[in-house]
Amino acid sequence: MVCKRYKGIVSNKYMTQDELKTLVGQAALAYVTPGEIVGVGTGSTVNKFIAALAGMKARVRGAVSSSEASTALLREAGIAVLPAHEAGELAVYIDGADEIDGRGCMIKGGGAALTREKIVAAQARRFICIADASKRVDVLGAFPLPVEVIPMAGARIARQFAALGGQATLRLKGGAPLVTDNGQHILDVRGLSITDPLALETEVNQWPGVVTVGIFARQRASVCLLGTEAGVQTLHFD
Ligand code: 5RP
Repeated sequence: MVCKRYKGIVSNKYMTQDELKTLVGQAALAYVTPGEIVGVGTGSTVNKFIAALAGMKARVRGAVSSSEASTALLREAGIAVLPAHEAGELAVYIDGADEIDGRGCMIKGGGAALTREKIVAAQARRFICIADASKRVDVLGAFPLPVEVIPMAGARIARQFAALGGQATLRLKGGAPLVTDNGQHILDVRGLSITDPLALETEVNQWPGVVTVGIFARQRASVCLLGTEAGVQTLHFD
């Protein structure tokens, strides 16, 4: 991994997490080529990117979005949202992460959008991760691993995680199971120390009823723009 300081050094040592997200959201504009279609993720960091992208909307051909929430924000910003199947290969996919390790592998899905995020990421040549410094970890797994599941398989999948030492709980919203944009449920799995993200992603992908596991090792980041009090650090993983 090569690590270098981004140009704009920030002198204020007490930036909030929200300000760090704004910083990396703006820095991601450097990866958007005018005239191209950009893949757009989901979450509070991506919302900062969408706000920044609005400032160059006349030069953006459109976006492929990973969630209903991002689609609404993109449209409000005056950016055309294209169906994934009409967009062809994308140059970049820009998204946040719940955790990112030293190889660019990530846990994602804190915003329940992991399935479409993985689909759009797979359509892009490069994944540009934007994250504040709190997301950078040595080993994935302190953040509960989100797994989108077909509801009838949820209890059995929870038992399969228990056999690996994980405790899975059904994600709730307003006291009822959260329903994703795809009409499915989310399990959040605590207690895993994911030392081999690619192996665990491969294994869980094969369990019947798993729609998407929130380990992004196959679709790992090419670059991470990490917001720190010293400014944006650019981490290269390829
Ligand atoms: C949504 C995601 C987000 O990228 C992840 O949860 C990070 O979100 P935020 O930028 O709000 O911290 O995977 O499903």
